[in-house]
Amino acid sequence: MNPLETLLQARLREGPVPAADVMALALYHPGHGYYRRAQGPWGFEGGDYYTALDLGPLLGEALCLRLLRAWEDLGRPETFTVLEPGAGRGWLGRDILQAATGPFAEALRYVHRDDNPAARAAAGEALAPWPDRVRFAAEGEALPPFVGAVLSNELFDALPAQPWRWDGARWTREMLTPDGPAWLPGEPCEATAWFAAHAQDGLESGDGAPWCAALPDVVADLARPLEAGLFLAIDYGEQASRLVDKGADLRRYKGHQVDGKWWEDLGDSDLTADVDFTRLASLLGGHGFGPAATVTLSRWVREHAPLGEWEEAWASLTPAVRIQRMENLLQLTLPTMMGERFRVLEAWKRA
Ligand SMILES: C[S@@+](CC[C@H](N)C(=O)[O-])C[C@H]1O[C@@H](n2cnc3c(N)ncnc32)[C@H](O)[C@@H]1O
Repeated sequence: MNPLETLLQARLREGPVPAADVMALALYHPGHGYYRRAQGPWGFEGGDYYTALDLGPLLGEALCLRLLRAWEDLGRPETFTVLEPGAGRGWLGRDILQAATGPFAEALRYVHRDDNPAARAAAGEALAPWPDRVRFAAEGEALPPFVGAVLSNELFDALPAQPWRWDGARWTREMLTPDGPAWLPGEPCEATAWFAAHAQDGLESGDGAPWCAALPDVVADLARPLEAGLFLAIDYGEQASRLVDKGADLRRYKGHQVDGKWWEDLGDSDLTADVDFTRLASLLGGHGFGPAATVTLSRWVREHAPLGEWEEAWASLTPAVRIQRMENLLQLTLPTMMGERFRVLEAWKRA
């Protein structure tokens, strides 16, 4: 039995354990959590999952252009800080820093924030070429106020979340019992009130969604230091009404296979939950951000990527690299790949 399963067995002797607590243990236990291990889980060969960054530099290049426009909108401040929470290996920061040129590059500062030790080590290497522009911040560290952007890729789907389900007569939540997972009755609470308010045409049996209890604190922590600028989050997820309609689940990624067995392989596989973009937007509104816009990744890339410039630049690449770039673009935009499954939320805070 692995050490996390031993810990969980002890908790199960006291009663059923909420799925969100199992997810928190599996991902963030200080010694054995999936995101607290010395060895990274990313990549194709031998990894559990890949993100948009494994596919090539195009997302970073498109984001660089988006950040350049944000810098211009803000009146070209002398320093434009990009804070990336959940920055993992720092590859997005690397791709953005690599793509930045001219006075914008001079103004750009990048703050990597992720306590994942494997990620931090990989990011140290990836970001080494920019020692004067990069800073590493710990998760609990209070950041000084800055102007610029908060940018994240797959941060919010990695926060522990509790699946809730309406069974036709009452609210139930997914728990682990000594006999396995089970949906057990739960008291009405903020989560159930939110789901009921966002159920289209009333609640039907099976409706429900994952509820991230930590979301308000995480958003407050990120929103507070940004004096003015852009909040941009890329993640799996939906608007609240679609999520509630779809029904709740947690997903487990292991060796590029996905299933719903969140209680197995604790600490050895990734767990993720859909992000509620309506709630994220509403929380940002409470911190002085204007109305958020959320679009599919496909639409966002088509709106913001310098497609014409890319076509010209790719002409001078070797055929193998040119094909890689095309595949990178297809992955980001095709509906069956990342194009429709991922969404991009943007919200502005004005000074
Ligand atoms: C799914 S990974 C994404 C990594 C990277 N953004 C990428 O796209 O490859 C999620 C990361 O978020 C980090 N994380 C979770 N909660 C966090 C928080 N409150 N602040 C900063 N990082 C956090 C985890 O340690 C993990 O490395």
